[in-house]
Amino acid sequence: MLRDLISKNRSCRRFRQETAVERQTLRELVDLARLSASAANMQPLKYALSCEPERNAHVFRHIGWAGYLEDWPGPAEGERPSAYIIVLCDTEISEFSDCDHGIAAQSILLGAAEKGLAGCMIGTVRRKELSAALAIPPRYKILLVLALGKPAEKVVLETAGPDGGIEYWRDTDGVHHVPKRPLDELILDI
Ligand SMILES: Cc1cc2nc3c(=O)[nH]c(=O)nc-3n(C[C@H](O)[C@H](O)[C@H](O)COP(=O)(O)O)c2cc1C
Repeated sequence: MLRDLISKNRSCRRFRQETAVERQTLRELVDLARLSASAANMQPLKYALSCEPERNAHVFRHIGWAGYLEDWPGPAEGERPSAYIIVLCDTEISEFSDCDHGIAAQSILLGAAEKGLAGCMIGTVRRKELSAALAIPPRYKILLVLALGKPAEKVVLETAGPDGGIEYWRDTDGVHHVPKRPLDELILDI
């Protein structure tokens, strides 16, 4: 069921780094993005793949993790992502990607969840530095980085309380909690 898959598809930030994600798997995930909606069907998105330890290390160096977990600097060696998909805008097709990259990212992460993988959209990216590290030509603008791997953390959804707190948090057992606002708060009576 789609609801189950969407519920399972939580942002994951700790992985079994030793479990490789093959390039072919990344290609299959990008193919889901390829089939997804695109404003005016312009399809300006391109993708750079990374699934080799050395290339992964370059990506990891330039991304930021879990701003609300102030005491956590991000995944330690051994629990880092095994792969990344870097979502790019090909500015020779269009300067603007509209919301295509969000749609593409969700397609990719749902596909990953279906395969027993997990991931995280990363918008905190030192774009100039990452472009240089991966020798990405200037025509391609980095929009998002998708971190992927075999999950090594438990993430639970909960309903945000009356105080409206939406910051995710981690309990003493290392379980990551994600508060979502209640449905009745989202649908306006207008
Ligand atoms: C556009 C976008 C950018 C994000 N950037 C980051 C990021 O830089 N670092 C990070 O750890 N998580 C990032 N996230 C993940 C969010 O923190 C996560 O979606 C949120 O906490 C809700 O958790 P959930 O995805 O399990 O529902 C991003 C999510 C989105 C949609």
